[in-house]
Amino acid sequence: AIPVIIDCDPGTDDAVALLLALASPELSVLAVTVVGGNVGLRQTLPNALALVALANAAVPVHAGADRPLLGQFTSEKRVHGADGLGGVVLPPGGPAAPGVAADAIRTILRTHPEPVTLIGIGPATNLALALVTEPALAARVSQIVLMSGAWGEGNVTPAAEFNAWSDPEALAILLASGRPLVFATLDLTAQALVTPARLAAWRALGNGRCLLAACDIQASVAPLPRFGGQGGALGTPLHDPCAVAWLIRPDLFTARACSVRMDLGPGPGRGRTVIDRWDRTGDPPNATVLETLDANGFFALLGHRLAHLP
Ligand code: BDR
Ligand code: CA
Repeated sequence: AIPVIIDCDPGTDDAVALLLALASPELSVLAVTVVGGNVGLRQTLPNALALVALANAAVPVHAGADRPLLGQFTSEKRVHGADGLGGVVLPPGGPAAPGVAADAIRTILRTHPEPVTLIGIGPATNLALALVTEPALAARVSQIVLMSGAWGEGNVTPAAEFNAWSDPEALAILLASGRPLVFATLDLTAQALVTPARLAAWRALGNGRCLLAACDIQASVAPLPRFGGQGGALGTPLHDPCAVAWLIRPDLFTARACSVRMDLGPGPGRGRTVIDRWDRTGDPPNATVLETLDANGFFALLGHRLAHLP
């Protein structure tokens, strides 16, 4: 199994991503680290603890940063609800593991016998803090797989995607780390639309508590007009599970090597990931950008894995 650390901000789609990872024998989840993002750390931390407990997983959960490296914390309550899980109440999980996220990540990188994959599905603060404080440990990172950025329009500003925009300096640190980076951008995740038919297909797979929680959480996400069909909404993008699914079933995706650079300026482009898909800059590629997704295969994988959890 691929050893991974998952850094997240649950988060409705983070919840499904965590459950997918915990249900998948292809991955060995060494730790879950938590960052403030969709909602504050005060809420994302108990959410992560509750999800790990719901899946009966013995995985340490560490609290991390409650704000970006620079500037102020801003949440995304419009999408995820005030509690981060769309009002779906889970039984409380256990206590957080001792040690803050960046320390825990460094300890694992230092001591794990194999190089470790970092999965980032929230603002990149914890991952950046771990690497910037002990750069030599980057050699122990096999790759960094992110849900972040967009080559097209953003979702929090016209230019920027939420995770990239929330801590652009942290993302720039990951880009400078020299480790292989994989981006599941908004353009990719817009192909992973939760529709009423897909939710109904999941519900028909059983009544385990994890499957039901995933369905209820996803049902809480209001469809966005941008993804609407004629006369009504088609679905909502299931962003974060795309990053996890790529490690499990890369055959469901196509990808392209590109140069990715951050816009760190103070203007309207701040937080934009400038992705050179057509090699206009001549800059050497520093990332793999996922381009297309077999959405039916992706939803079948998710349903199958969620149905095998408690
Ligand atoms: C990303 O931001 C959050 O709202 C989601 O959990 C996802 O990680 C999408 O822009
Ligand atoms: Ca997230």
